Amino acid sequence: MREAMLGVDVGDDVYEEDPTINELERRTAALLGKEAGLFCATGSLSNLLGVYLLVEPGQEIVCDVRAHIVRAEMGAHAALHGITTRTWWSEDGIVDAATIEKIITPHADSHLVSTAAVELENTHNFGGGTIQPYDTMVGISQLCHDAGVAIHLDGARLWNAHVATGVPMADYGRLADTVSICFSKGLGAPVGSVLCASAENIARAREERKRLGAGWRQAGLLAAAALYALDHNVERLADDHRAAKAFAQTVANAAPWALDPSRVQTNIVVMDLGEADAVEVIAAAEAAGVRLSDVGAHTVRAVTHLGVTEDEVVDAGRVVGRILVARH
Ligand SMILES: Cc1ncc(COP(=O)(O)O)c(C=O)c1O
Repeated sequence: MREAMLGVDVGDDVYEEDPTINELERRTAALLGKEAGLFCATGSLSNLLGVYLLVEPGQEIVCDVRAHIVRAEMGAHAALHGITTRTWWSEDGIVDAATIEKIITPHADSHLVSTAAVELENTHNFGGGTIQPYDTMVGISQLCHDAGVAIHLDGARLWNAHVATGVPMADYGRLADTVSICFSKGLGAPVGSVLCASAENIARAREERKRLGAGWRQAGLLAAAALYALDHNVERLADDHRAAKAFAQTVANAAPWALDPSRVQTNIVVMDLGEADAVEVIAAAEAAGVRLSDVGAHTVRAVTHLGVTEDEVVDAGRVVGRILVARH
């Protein structure tokens, strides 16, 4: 990847003159069945712009209670764009059309907030790398579009859903009005996300990106890393999924109360610590060479990726299993 970054042609992207960025935007949009794309530094920025395109100040977007846009983007949609949010509860980030139908209030009268958009996250990060089933997405898309409600898809890890299910990226893409997708997570690029939508909407997003001070100049080197990831690191996500299962099974062999390995769908494993404190478990794991993160006071997350082998992951599972047993 680093070699691929050297020697590529670059130009001023504020003037849309960086050929490598233009190629990345074109290819990503085509992959998702959209007219145009916009290269952004982060998934958070892609989400911010994607939601901005669909929701006016004072309107709402409805999403999962643990959606990244509502839990982990520092309130940006409200703070910067005046957008309000309502959420539905789910155990694992997965939702059906009936739940959404009960919540949305499109074209509300003068004393209620109008729902302008619904947000889906696939795979779902805090839900544990869970896959929103394609058929339910079709139903949700139909329901929302019939009601005049748009859909933003946070597809930071849509690659993982695609590899795990075989559903083409464009099939997912056509169900949403705006889609954000990341190159920096399982795909291993240093940074980068592309927002995909209609050409008209991407032109608006480009203006807003500049307004936020996030237009960039010769960033083609970073786009080259993302192009390399696109060509080399998508299909191998299946290895990460296998490794996550192996990790989960190894932990469950020692600490069966913490997780059910059969529920691991992609590259994220969430473990329930019971009474044990997540911060303490993370510190003990770190001291033993395994990095975890917390997703709650008594819940931790492990992620498999292209930087670790399956053998290393199984060793890590043994370490975590021992720590959980010691604290049970
Ligand atoms: C589902 C999801 N969406 C968006 C993001 C934001 O990506 P970034 O960290 O590049 O802003 C993340 C980051 O973890 C994520 O998990």
